[in-house]
Amino acid sequence: MVRWRIFLGTAFAALTMAAGGAIASPAAAAPTSGDGAVNPTPSVVGGTRAAQGEFPFMVRLSMGCGGALYSPTLVLTAAHCVSRTGANSSITATLGVVDLNSSSRITRRSNYVYRAPGYTGAGKDWALIRLASPVTGLATLPIATTTAYDSGTFTIAGWGAASEGGSQQRYLLKATVPYVSDATCNSSAMYGGEVIAAEEICAGYTSGGVDTCQGDSGGPMFRRDANNAWIQVGIVSWGDGCARPNKPGVYTQVSYFSSAIRSAATSLGG
Ligand code: ARG
Repeated sequence: MVRWRIFLGTAFAALTMAAGGAIASPAAAAPTSGDGAVNPTPSVVGGTRAAQGEFPFMVRLSMGCGGALYSPTLVLTAAHCVSRTGANSSITATLGVVDLNSSSRITRRSNYVYRAPGYTGAGKDWALIRLASPVTGLATLPIATTTAYDSGTFTIAGWGAASEGGSQQRYLLKATVPYVSDATCNSSAMYGGEVIAAEEICAGYTSGGVDTCQGDSGGPMFRRDANNAWIQVGIVSWGDGCARPNKPGVYTQVSYFSSAIRSAATSLGG
């Protein structure tokens, strides 16, 4: 099953990224750029380097996932990146840098994890991680509360693999991917009904080449809103391999869960 393959991949990433462990060097083989752009340091698959400060809300989590700073003390990530709801001081979040080895990085320990209620491995792939102390001076990423922004061109970013089966990245990579409708994504040519249309949103090129990949899970997919501000529309969740033709990335549809995320955040103290 596709989902099992992905979750096993995530477990592997967690093992190889042992808590607080060293960051693997960039993948040796450069993937083909999906957009034909000059691509000196690819990551995400088919991506390019993000500039320092470009996406201040990006978070790297020590189990080998991404996240987004939702508030000074809360990181929004994927349910499949965490094991349960409850007290948890084992996660380290790294923030404020594109280079995970930078001496100016900010780190915080977790003190609580909230996993989406009812999560059993398909859909509902969101979680909040509370940090032991607030992070100030970094912009947070607001979540979409309506479906108004659930189409168009999205930005993806992360420190995950730059090619299917590749190693985790030291430097934050970014790329853009177009929205794929539920009907297209669930067509027999693509996921044949595996996508939970109400809870998930697909993005990618029919020809493949650009995608999130293992280790990007939990990170945000985002775009500009009507005021030109970044807004989060997705959470990296799953896909069949990475950047394969006819296999777009599948993301948690944040707008669908926005009320639940907001009330969970309130219950966690902000
Ligand atoms: N579940 C994966 C992770 O743990 C992310 C998979 C995203 N895959 C994709 N083809 N977009 O990092």
